[in-house]
Amino acid sequence: LGHTIYYQESIDSTQKKAHHLAYDGCPEGTIVIAEEQTSGRGRLTRPWHSPKFTGIWMSIVLRPKLPPQQAPQFTLIAAVAVVQAIEEVCGLNPEIKWPNDILIKGRKVTGILTELQAESDKINSIIIGIGMNVNAEESDFPEELKKIATSIAIEKGQSVSRARLIQKILEKLENYYQIYLEKGFSPIKWLWEGYAVSIGKNIIARTITGSIEGKALGITDEGVLRIQDENDKIHEVYSADIEFPDN
Ligand code: BTN
Repeated sequence: LGHTIYYQESIDSTQKKAHHLAYDGCPEGTIVIAEEQTSGRGRLTRPWHSPKFTGIWMSIVLRPKLPPQQAPQFTLIAAVAVVQAIEEVCGLNPEIKWPNDILIKGRKVTGILTELQAESDKINSIIIGIGMNVNAEESDFPEELKKIATSIAIEKGQSVSRARLIQKILEKLENYYQIYLEKGFSPIKWLWEGYAVSIGKNIIARTITGSIEGKALGITDEGVLRIQDENDKIHEVYSADIEFPDN
């Protein structure tokens, strides 16, 4: 990964640019990275706060020859790579909140956005967007994010090299991508479950069609979340926001 890197001081969204590059046939492993995004986006078309110099705003293009149904697994592969990079470079212990949030002490430090370009029944490209708050201070966050977001520097009490983090994320991602292509999803799933906060807990999953409350049992081999409700019915959830009623 990272043989082709597009670096820009300011961009609307690295994700958008990566989509264009992928569409134009860029090589696998192409990376778009920027110091600042003027319209960074998160899941469900939410805006993603991406101020200058304090974060990692990057998108990675992969081209696995797989059916599109396997695309959600890439969020989980990237999550494991990001968690381990933070552990090794910063000595912190982040957790994963399904599907795409990386938390430290309950506050979000990184979001992952996995998007897909598919042709009939084949993946053409997968764009993995990673947004990490690295050196932002408490006062850099807008009021509405202060309670729910954090940064590496806030948690560690000192600033951290973004270059080292980027390098480690890419190294880990390349490694787990290779393992995934050779051995399938189960080794990743096993690692992922070790970092996941939601598993075994009572959760509320808010989906576009409604809310499901119950115990999170784990994820399937496709990366789908399984929830058991109070009538012991099992629900499989592809995409949702998770809340913890016990907290
Ligand atoms: C989320 O938690 O909702 C996902 C956030 C993903 C943000 C990253 S930052 C780099 C890339 N470019 C974007 O516009 N979004 C992703």
